[in-house]
Amino acid sequence: MGPGRKPVLAGNWKMFKTGAEAAAFARELRPRVSMIHDAEIVVCPPFTALSAALQALTGSNVQVGAQDVYWEAEGAFTGEVSAPMLKEAGCRWVIVGHSERRQLFGETDEAVARKAAAALGAGLSPIVCVGETLAEREAARTLDVVGRQIRTGLGGLSEEQMAGLVVAYEPVWAIGTGKVATPTQAEEVHQAIRSLVREIHGAPAAGALRILYGGSVKAGNVAELMSQPDVDGALVGGASLSAESFAAIVRWRG
Ligand code: PGA
Repeated sequence: MGPGRKPVLAGNWKMFKTGAEAAAFARELRPRVSMIHDAEIVVCPPFTALSAALQALTGSNVQVGAQDVYWEAEGAFTGEVSAPMLKEAGCRWVIVGHSERRQLFGETDEAVARKAAAALGAGLSPIVCVGETLAEREAARTLDVVGRQIRTGLGGLSEEQMAGLVVAYEPVWAIGTGKVATPTQAEEVHQAIRSLVREIHGAPAAGALRILYGGSVKAGNVAELMSQPDVDGALVGGASLSAESFAAIVRWRG
């Protein structure tokens, strides 16, 4: 964690929880994290549970995000949801370019760029995900792949827009596998991302950018990851589904 950067702990629920389950989760989480003021806490339910989560978290220190967004504001795009719609619903955040969307739904770096820009345009903070596959890591292509994802995904944004987003580095081989990146592996890529952002958008934007780590984060490994100078938070899948384990991650300082 670097100086002046407020950590972000975000839960990505993926395709889990109904509205009733989201509300029950929120009721359990609120008292467990109400004392935390030095971090931003975010949960990202499926679209259908957003309103129940938002309602149950009203007046709390827990913010709500969506898991995807389309770049057009409205139109004949069956099945899609736009950034202004998410904003109006009460979301503050939206995950963009998660590796599951890239791998299972064909999302490209160009689509990620359009989605991030649309989210920012509507006043949402995108959590832009990047990360290499196991084959790419084994071929020593990690920094190339992540570099391309950052250049294409964020290269067209202004310095001012950069201030409104966070990046999540999620090695694909660490997602849902229990194989967390070592703090050194995470730090190496986080540092490379920050240098690249410095090159593209300048030192102030790079210094302020929060870079989250994601991939098998749990209460037992979050503190070590957060001790790295360029790890400014976590994007948590499996371990964010129980209020108890997500609260333990949010309270990593002890
Ligand atoms: P995981 O998922 O924590 O279950 O590995 C992380 C993510 O996909 O964002």
